[in-house]
Amino acid sequence: MSTSNQENQTWKSKGTFLLAAAGSAIGLGNLWRFPYITGENGGGAFILVYLLCVLMLGLPLLMAEVSLGRYSRRSPITAMGSLARHIGASRSWAGVGIMGVLTGVMILSFYSVIAGWAMSYTYESFAGTFTGMPADEIGKFFSNMIADPVTLTIWHTVFMLASGIIVGRGIHKGLESGLKIMMPALFILMLLMLLYAITQTGQFGRAVEFMFKPDFSELSVNSIIAAMGQAFFTLSLGMCTMMTYGAYMPKENSIPVTCLSVAGLDTLIAIIAGLSIFPIVFAFGMEASAGPGLLFISMTTAFSQMSFGAIVGGLFFLLVTIAALSSAISLMEPAVAWLQERFGMSRAGATVIVGALIWFVGLGCVLSFNLWSGEEYKLFGKTFFDILDYLTANLMLPLGGMLVAIFAGWKMGRNKMMKELGLSTTLFNLWMPLTRIFAPAAVLVILFTSL
Ligand code: PHE
Repeated sequence: MSTSNQENQTWKSKGTFLLAAAGSAIGLGNLWRFPYITGENGGGAFILVYLLCVLMLGLPLLMAEVSLGRYSRRSPITAMGSLARHIGASRSWAGVGIMGVLTGVMILSFYSVIAGWAMSYTYESFAGTFTGMPADEIGKFFSNMIADPVTLTIWHTVFMLASGIIVGRGIHKGLESGLKIMMPALFILMLLMLLYAITQTGQFGRAVEFMFKPDFSELSVNSIIAAMGQAFFTLSLGMCTMMTYGAYMPKENSIPVTCLSVAGLDTLIAIIAGLSIFPIVFAFGMEASAGPGLLFISMTTAFSQMSFGAIVGGLFFLLVTIAALSSAISLMEPAVAWLQERFGMSRAGATVIVGALIWFVGLGCVLSFNLWSGEEYKLFGKTFFDILDYLTANLMLPLGGMLVAIFAGWKMGRNKMMKELGLSTTLFNLWMPLTRIFAPAAVLVILFTSL
C-alpha cells in the first residue's frame, strides 16, 4: 500500500479538486497544441469535431474517471486492480493503469521540451529581447532557438527539475496555494490578449470565420483522429490522471457539476487562445499551418509592438509555464505512485527515477527539432517528437479512455455508478449509453478508419 492510500486524504477544501483538475486539464494542450493543430487541420470543421468529441466523449468519460477514482479511493493502478477484484472482474484491468503510467511518461518527455520553450520566452521577453523586433526576425529567432540543442536541453532540464521537486514533495503542498492565484491570473491575461486581438489587428472577423465556419472539404480522416486526440489530451483523459484526482475528491462534491466546470473552463481557454492567436497570424501574414511554433511566434509578434510588451509578454509566458507545470505534475504522478506501490520505493526515490527517465527520452524530442530533423531520422515522415505526440494523443489516450468507459459502463454495475455519479435519472440515462456504447464505438470506428 502506498502512503497516499494510508493517508486516504481528501482535498482540504471543496474547491481544491476543481482547481487541481483544472490545473491538470489547462496547459500546453489549450495554449500551444490546440491553436497549432487547428491551424494544421484547416480550422472550422476540425473545431466542430473537436467540440463534439469534448461533449460526447470527453465529458462522460471525465465523469467516469472521477467516479471510479472517488469510489475506490486508490491511486489509479491499484484503483483499476482493486476495483476489478472488488466487483469480480478480471485482474488484467490493472493493465489500463499501467498503460496510463507509460502514456504519462511519454507525453511529459515532449511536453517538458515545449514548456522549456515557454521558459526561454519568459526570460527573453522580460529581458526586452523582442521589444520592437520586426516580425520576420521574430520568426527567425524561433527557428534559431529550436536549432540549438544545448539551449533546448538546458530549459528542458530546468522544467523537469521544477516538476520533480513539486511531485517529490507530495501533490498537495505546492498545488493548493499557488494555483489559486495563477489560474485566475492566466485567465485575465488571456482576456487582455483577446481584447488586443479584437481591437488592434483588424483581422478578428477573419479569425472567427476561420475557426467557426466549417469547410468540410478540409476534413480528412486524419483531422477527425486529431480532433478526438486533442479532446482526450486537453482534458487529461485516458491515462487515469483524473482518477487519481477523483480519489481525493470529498463525497459532498458534485461530480457532474465539477466535471462540467473543468470541461467548460478548459474549452473556453482553448477557444480564447485561438481567437487571440489567429487574428495576429492573419494580420502579419503568417501561415495558420505553421506548426508547433505558432503560439510562440504569433504572441511574441504582438508583444513586440505593444507598449509594455516586454512585461506583458514575460508575464504571459510565465503563466504558460505555470499552466504547463500544473499539468506536468499530473503527468508524472501516476508513474511515481506506481513505483511506490509496486516496489515500495520512497516518494523521493521514485520521483528521481521517473524524472530521469522522462528527461532522457526528452532528449530525443530536443533533437527532433535540429540534429534529428532530417529525412533520414524520420519514420513515416515523422520525427521522434511527432511520433511520441501522435502515439500518445491519437492512439494511447483514446484507447485508455475506451477501456475505462467499458469498465465503468459494463463492469461496475448500474447502481454503483448511479450512486457515485449523483446524476438525475434522466441525465444518467443519457450518460449510460454514451459511456457504454457510443464512446467505445466511436473510438474504435475512428481508429479503424485510420488504418
Ligand atoms: N491536459 C494537459 C494539457 O492540456 C495535458 C495532459 C494530458 C495532462 C494528459 C495530463 C494527462 O496541457
